[in-house]
Amino acid sequence: MESFDPATLTPEKLGQPGDPCIMVIFGAGGDLTKRKLIPALYNLAKGKLLPEQFAIVGVSREEYSTELFRQMTTQEIRQFATGGFDTQSWEWFAKRLYYLSGDFKDPETYKNLDGTLGQVDQEQSTQGNRLFYLATSPSFFAEIVKQLGAAGLVKQEKTPPWKRVVIEKPFGHDLASAVALNHDINQVLDEKQVYRIDHYLGKETVQNILAFRFANGIFEPVWNRRYVDHVQVTVAEELGVELRGDYYDRAGAMRDMVPNHIFQLITLTAMEPPISFDAEAVHDEQTKILRAIQPMHPEQVLDHAVRGQYGDGAMDGKRVPAYRHEPRVAPDSNTETFVALALHIDNWRWAGVPFYLRTGKRLHERVTQIVIRFRRPPFVLFRKTSVDKIPPNELVISIQPDEGISLSFEAKVPGPVVRLGAVDMDFQYSDYFGSTPSTGYETLLYDCMLGDPTLFQRADMVEAAWTVVQPILDVWKALPPRDFPNYAAGSWGPEAARELLQREGREWRDTACTLAHKGAPRSAPEERPAALTRK
Ligand code: BG6
Repeated sequence: MESFDPATLTPEKLGQPGDPCIMVIFGAGGDLTKRKLIPALYNLAKGKLLPEQFAIVGVSREEYSTELFRQMTTQEIRQFATGGFDTQSWEWFAKRLYYLSGDFKDPETYKNLDGTLGQVDQEQSTQGNRLFYLATSPSFFAEIVKQLGAAGLVKQEKTPPWKRVVIEKPFGHDLASAVALNHDINQVLDEKQVYRIDHYLGKETVQNILAFRFANGIFEPVWNRRYVDHVQVTVAEELGVELRGDYYDRAGAMRDMVPNHIFQLITLTAMEPPISFDAEAVHDEQTKILRAIQPMHPEQVLDHAVRGQYGDGAMDGKRVPAYRHEPRVAPDSNTETFVALALHIDNWRWAGVPFYLRTGKRLHERVTQIVIRFRRPPFVLFRKTSVDKIPPNELVISIQPDEGISLSFEAKVPGPVVRLGAVDMDFQYSDYFGSTPSTGYETLLYDCMLGDPTLFQRADMVEAAWTVVQPILDVWKALPPRDFPNYAAGSWGPEAARELLQREGREWRDTACTLAHKGAPRSAPEERPAALTRK
């Protein structure tokens, strides 16, 4: 069976093109393919990270020919390329595109695919390596894997040639369906052939959490219950559900964002140092965090979990409709478009340190950030002043739209009078490393070709994540909300989310002060920079 040995990733190999292969995209006619996958592969091609012996076979129900698929993709790339279009590299890319029309449930499709792959292997010398990417509706995941197995297309006897399967999110709809899907997949594939993708792990700043924590000696000593008061994770979106009402109205904010994207942020922030950066070692530590999150009892759900749904409101001065009036959403929908949770990680490092998370659509501003709020100094040295409270230090890891890290602390305001002001030490990626336009999928696709599963999810991680959210989903299902819609589009979500922290004497970081808004007040009024004046 294939296994990934990070020792083979020598610096010489990193930065080299991936292995020769054919990437088969199921769902080639869909949005993900044209907006993300093709532009990401094209960026890899421009960066010389695709091998000469490479090809893409798109599979979808639509009756296109290879010629038409090439023409359509050539038009779409001009719209969706993130790093500019260049005729020469596109010609190189376009002649590696192939198309097969077929029904995902029909065994005939897989017979035809087998034939096409043999033919493409000959034309492009792709050496039998296969990367199957399931960019379809989740209802096809198990079926496609089963059919691939039955057609003998994913049989991994020796390596090379390798056969890998990438599975998009959402992975299951709840704990039971995730367990069932893992079971179906593992009937056909060895776990090492499975790449469960979460595009948050393709974001540079998310990967940088590990570098920040473990490539520096100064942060780890304070990264624990002794110094950290609490952690906040915010993933706020300005967008509504757009045209995805069909999917979203069945999923809701919890399933769409929490057990996947947000738990990636939480596990990378909270995990113990792995014994190496080997995929298994990193996944082990992430899984331990998920297993250490206290499951909520039904009565705790009422106190520690908040759900919301947006009503109409204004975004950037323009009126926008309520969720229930969005296309393909039930007019009496009880689906949540906002979630806030207070979680507790029961382990030695984090006992007693709440992890607050919130995510929602149609919020005031697009911002994804992790805030580590430290404990206040043990006593106020500046007692003979008019101020008795010093704001806590904060470390903010900004994931998007700005990418950077900022540490706030108190400094003396110059002058004969003793006054303190809050200042920030800021690092912004773009200042140091420029910005490389990317879709977020480049690293992930490249890693699949190298056979590095570190940035993908293991079966037990996915199940551990669902185990945390399942009790909340159960209570919410049993007790439909009575106050939806409960926040206006363009606001920061329902009042209950503010109260969730307020009850514990805390508050959400004033999100008006993301890195994009430097100079704006960092904290709520009662915590603004303390002016310490000698009495
Ligand atoms: C997707 C969700 O996985 O992530 C969407 O299905 C959400 O609802 C998106 O908008 C957010 O991704 P990003 O990269 O824009 O933060």
